Amino acid sequence: MMNTPIYDFVRSYAASDISRFHMPGHKGVPLLGCEPLDITEIAGADELFEAEGIILESEKNAAALFGTAHSFYSTEGSTLAIKSMLSLVTAKARSEGKKPLIFAARNAHKAFIYACALLDLEVRWLYGNEAAHLCVCRISAEEVESALSAASEPPSALYLTSPDYLGNIADIEGIARVCHAYGVPLVVDNAHGAYLKFLTPSRHPIDLGADICCDSAHKTLPCLTGGAYLHISKNAEREYLESARETMAIFASTSPSYLILQSLDLCNRYMSEGYSERLATCADKLKHLKEKISALGFSVERTEPLKLVINTAKSGYSGVEFAEHLRLRKAEAEFADGEFVVLMATPETKDSDLDRLYSAIAEIKPKAPLSEEDLPLCAGEPSELSIREAVFAPSETVRADSAVGRVCGAPTVSCPPAVPIVVSGERITRSAAALLSRYGVEYIRVVK
Ligand SMILES: Cc1ncc(COP(=O)(O)O)c(C=O)c1O
Repeated sequence: MMNTPIYDFVRSYAASDISRFHMPGHKGVPLLGCEPLDITEIAGADELFEAEGIILESEKNAAALFGTAHSFYSTEGSTLAIKSMLSLVTAKARSEGKKPLIFAARNAHKAFIYACALLDLEVRWLYGNEAAHLCVCRISAEEVESALSAASEPPSALYLTSPDYLGNIADIEGIARVCHAYGVPLVVDNAHGAYLKFLTPSRHPIDLGADICCDSAHKTLPCLTGGAYLHISKNAEREYLESARETMAIFASTSPSYLILQSLDLCNRYMSEGYSERLATCADKLKHLKEKISALGFSVERTEPLKLVINTAKSGYSGVEFAEHLRLRKAEAEFADGEFVVLMATPETKDSDLDRLYSAIAEIKPKAPLSEEDLPLCAGEPSELSIREAVFAPSETVRADSAVGRVCGAPTVSCPPAVPIVVSGERITRSAAALLSRYGVEYIRVVK
């Protein structure tokens, strides 16, 4: 049985009659209920960014499960891991006195934009083809090949977001092959795909050739919100492994949550005991549910197994309307917009919840499609400001429909999906303003 050193330590500390003359201020007295288990980096509890005791032992368990050179814990989500990954892959360029350049698929989460601002990175966006939605950017290995072969100097890394918010998975294997032929590391935001490791065969980015990736454990595994991994491949540059911890420390709080660390720790044992089988059963049930929903006349997207994505616009409803109907029947969706509703399930989802969802959907009668013209993603129009300059410049909030010609400041897009339509430092064009309106973004931060 896989051991759980962090969980065991905290349990025995909570059970011992020790007077807590240390932080946190609750002193283990329940107010919320979980306080007895909420400790700080006391003697024996190890230190997240100088781990050599129970945290290191637990991370090694995670690394064994994920088949990585090492899997570093984050208690601040993939957001922390994204900043850290980008700092690691650009360290070489910085040490050579160059401004690092990243090639990135355009559907990046805003955590990526903030990381670029903090690290002063330049980005060359790849748009893919037939992008039907803001969150989707279908990059092919061929597109990567032509971008890399045309580059005067190779970028510090190629950055992909896969799976995306609508459940599409990129061709990591093909893209990794091309990247490596050009000596370019592949960085993957796998925030939505921690569970992919436990499919048979694994579809986890590290197994498919990514050098480094982040997983939000909390998004698809039974882990508390905030729990995430920064995984480093056994094939990645040795330097990443050596510098990862101190790099994470630059961006992280010095008070990591031990509730989240215990949760990550317990997850290791949980996943080592029959998780793949439970996941396969769950994926089967969802496949069956998707077929039943399609049979009702709804357009169910082809996605990764744990997402159920319905293009509700094709059946005459906005995603928001559809989600509201589900909410009134006690089923809460992950995300909805004008066209789609996104629902997420895991092996922890009860059969009764799946039944409730199906019954709620079965009450809806498909209608004629909503007729909205396709609005493809528009290429960003660079201004004289870099991402960093634009994010940190004095800015003001203006109505999006009056922002044409202005330069985008901090990324303004709600979470979820938190994929910026216009990126900081880009000039807002007419087509960008139309897209903002399509996605319901009424106000935008622009540089003064
Ligand atoms: C694609 C993507 N990347 C990164 C993140 C940030 O992850 P976290 O919330 O774990 O910090 C999210 C969160 O929604 C996301 O959807």
